[in-house]
Amino acid sequence: MKNKVLSNTFSKIILIGEHSVVYGEPAIAIPFHGTSLEVSIKKCDKNHLTCKFFDGRLEETSEDLFGIKTLIEKFLEFYKIKEKICVKIDSDIPNERGMGSSAASSVGVARALFEYFEISHDSNDIMEWANISEKIIHGNPSGIDVNVVLHDKSIYYIKGQEIQLFPINLDAYLIIADTGIKGKTKEAVADVRKLVESDEIYENYVKELGILSQNAKKLIENNQPAKLGKIMNQAHNLLSKLSVSDDELDKMIDISRGNGALGAKLTGGGRGGCMIALAENIENANKIKDSLEKIGKNVWISSLKNEE
Ligand code: PMV
Repeated sequence: MKNKVLSNTFSKIILIGEHSVVYGEPAIAIPFHGTSLEVSIKKCDKNHLTCKFFDGRLEETSEDLFGIKTLIEKFLEFYKIKEKICVKIDSDIPNERGMGSSAASSVGVARALFEYFEISHDSNDIMEWANISEKIIHGNPSGIDVNVVLHDKSIYYIKGQEIQLFPINLDAYLIIADTGIKGKTKEAVADVRKLVESDEIYENYVKELGILSQNAKKLIENNQPAKLGKIMNQAHNLLSKLSVSDDELDKMIDISRGNGALGAKLTGGGRGGCMIALAENIENANKIKDSLEKIGKNVWISSLKNEE
């Protein structure tokens, strides 16, 4: 057992394929290092949890933190650990915005527990424990969020298949902007399922999204950002037809396109949360950023060049 451990994780952005990924279609997700999360664990008299929303005994945490609480309790029980710990989560990843804040905390806490108690582990073990929390928070997640956060690398992800790292080297910039409205991933995923089960037309939208992800992969490999932007626009149309966009996202997407974006779409679960836009150069990325900041949004820019 160590004296104290720190574990850092980062946020993630789904470039394309959210929602359809739940049905076995491919999706592309990238780590985003503009926001991050740190978990620290040290010895304590009682099991204690501190984060933005709570500071107190682990057993008294609020419902929102039930996933993390269950992960910690089950871990201590499974490894028959009697020692009490203080777990502290410091994060500047906006919560419930499709930026992977829950995956970052689940992976961060699972990794920190293994390291603090010096229990040998590999990335599959971290994933298994992180999923205990993720399943409580998201219901039945596709696993894309945990995978990209865990590996901290871009991935081409198909549910149930071995993870494919997908290094991105594209001459373009990604603009990420927060609506400021909490996303409703669990509800949106459940509503999409109702639609898909109600009519074949929605099942076809999901399949079309899968084809767009496959095309996006080829365009990225061939460094064709302009065509990728068009694919992003098409993906956003399909996601709207699946009922997961909303007025604020549509407004920000229109503003981005009006300011020269190659393409723009929602990212993550939708219905609030974040949107992304693609810009061909940093000048255009800054122009889009300024236009979204003018309407009071938090905006980040990330280069898509030279990922290892
Ligand atoms: O956690 P979010 O909001 O980034 O959404 C995850 C992506 C979904 O495809 C909507 C759900 C899933 O489990 O993959």
